[in-house]
Amino acid sequence: DIFGSERKNSKGLNMNILSEAEPFFAALDQFKTHQWHGGPLINGETLSGESKAVVSPYDTTQTVGQVIFADDQAVEQAISSAVAAFPAWCRTPVAQRANALQKLADLLEENREELIVLCTREAGKSLQDGIDEVREAIDFCRYYAVQAKKMMSKPELLPGPTGELNELFVQGRGVFVCISPWNFPLAIFLGQVTAALAAGNTVIAKPAEQTCLVGYRAVQLAHEAGIPKEALQFLPGTGASVGAALTSDERIGGVCFTGSTGTAKVINRALAAREGAIIPLIAETGGQNAMVVDSTSQPEQVVNDVVASSFTSAGQRCSALRVLYLQEDIAERVLEILKGAMDELSIGYPGSVKTDVGPVIDATAKANLNAHIEHIKQVGKLIKQVELPADCKDGHFVAPTAVEIDSIKVLEKEHFGPILHIIRFKASELDKVIADINSTGFGLTLGIHSRNEGHALSVADRVNVGNVYINRNQIGAVVGVQPFGGQGLSGTGPKAGGPHYLTRFMTEKTRTNNI
Ligand code: NAD
Ligand code: ALA
Repeated sequence: DIFGSERKNSKGLNMNILSEAEPFFAALDQFKTHQWHGGPLINGETLSGESKAVVSPYDTTQTVGQVIFADDQAVEQAISSAVAAFPAWCRTPVAQRANALQKLADLLEENREELIVLCTREAGKSLQDGIDEVREAIDFCRYYAVQAKKMMSKPELLPGPTGELNELFVQGRGVFVCISPWNFPLAIFLGQVTAALAAGNTVIAKPAEQTCLVGYRAVQLAHEAGIPKEALQFLPGTGASVGAALTSDERIGGVCFTGSTGTAKVINRALAAREGAIIPLIAETGGQNAMVVDSTSQPEQVVNDVVASSFTSAGQRCSALRVLYLQEDIAERVLEILKGAMDELSIGYPGSVKTDVGPVIDATAKANLNAHIEHIKQVGKLIKQVELPADCKDGHFVAPTAVEIDSIKVLEKEHFGPILHIIRFKASELDKVIADINSTGFGLTLGIHSRNEGHALSVADRVNVGNVYINRNQIGAVVGVQPFGGQGLSGTGPKAGGPHYLTRFMTEKTRTNNI
């Protein structure tokens, strides 16, 4: 047991085992037409107001439910309530806080089918992504519960002269604002929230505007698990209104943000411009992730991992592969197999077990990605564009596409969808490849394929990224196993699901006692 007896990662579900799969599919059925309702949750009460329909990214003629966005008054109520609740939650014994998170993990497991269907219907996640999403959320709850107990149960004793007791304490910082993206509407949403709560902060959670219903259900379950309703407030709404109001308020004690690099910079400026204390910003942001494949690699394995890294979740993972560097000796063979593998991708209804690639999140994302595809086809050479099936016409689907280009420098930003860029290189150009990848300023994930270990380790060492994967795909970091987060334009750290994450949510106090 590599995790110790106190914590195990959630086991997920093996759909190849009939006795696991059959009851699971039967349970999914009851949520296929269910309509959810959500809104601001202030001290556990759902505020009323004007609601708007939530439609499914895979079929915009289908509604998922209704959501009410928070107004200025709700923002004020959430902040003042979270401020008032802080002293009591901060002083709640860490074991009690951790127990509530363990209970939340159990409730997520009990409500797994509902949450998976909600993820497929509101965020367009594939069934497998939905399963993984719930599993990761459970892992975050259990991991931070154990970490918090490890770090906060007792003060650290420090040396001192005889008769003097020196102790170092850690405690919560105040009200943490947690702002999350739509692409992990449960796992990242709850990862942020549970870390902040475990460390003794009260929390205001702002989900992405596209996935408020998942966030709403998660907060309801957290309250049911014993997180005090005053300690966890929920404010659905847009970034420009709710997000901006929260991050400009002088009463907040920290911000945990996951999303685009551009938004992180806006928040950083808002925090600097406001009155009050200088507070931490944890920002996990975008990437321009590469994979470097040398001529010792095994082409079938490369293609397997390239397809998984580029097209899982319709390429809407911060970790996804964007730029594949192929050593020229192996390039033709890899591209030939890649074209065949892309032909095999099943695109469509994300709630079906056979779907590999679902929709992208909304009409804006679809338009931007299609514009990029048209542009990059002019700049480079089209390798493969998969034809979309006819039944995708009512959804935000983008055709998985692979294009060969000359240089990573033609990509001015992250393109958050199923688009793979390919660059050939000669063995003698490896130093330039590494310099080019580093020149983007991003540093999230890196894939390497090689059977020469010394070579692979040297590339891993020289590229400035947070997560390196050798001879496998480069997505799907597991909590406590591959702590996740980047460098440079990709994030501030510390890594989510890693042993240092909670430190940034805490403040330190030493007590020198001569009584
Ligand atoms: P986004 O930056 O558009 O939005 C993220 C969140 O920020 C949303 O909740 C949004 O409402 C909020 N927001 C927007 N403007 C704001 C403002 N002015 N003030 C406060 N909050 C504001 O990102 P997105 O489109 O939701 O997510 C996709 C991006 O997230 C991609 O760039 C992806 O790489 C990144 N991402 C990174 C990680 C990671 O761990 N590094 C994980 C997932 C996604
Ligand atoms: N943690 C997510 C992954 O590794 C983003 O794919």
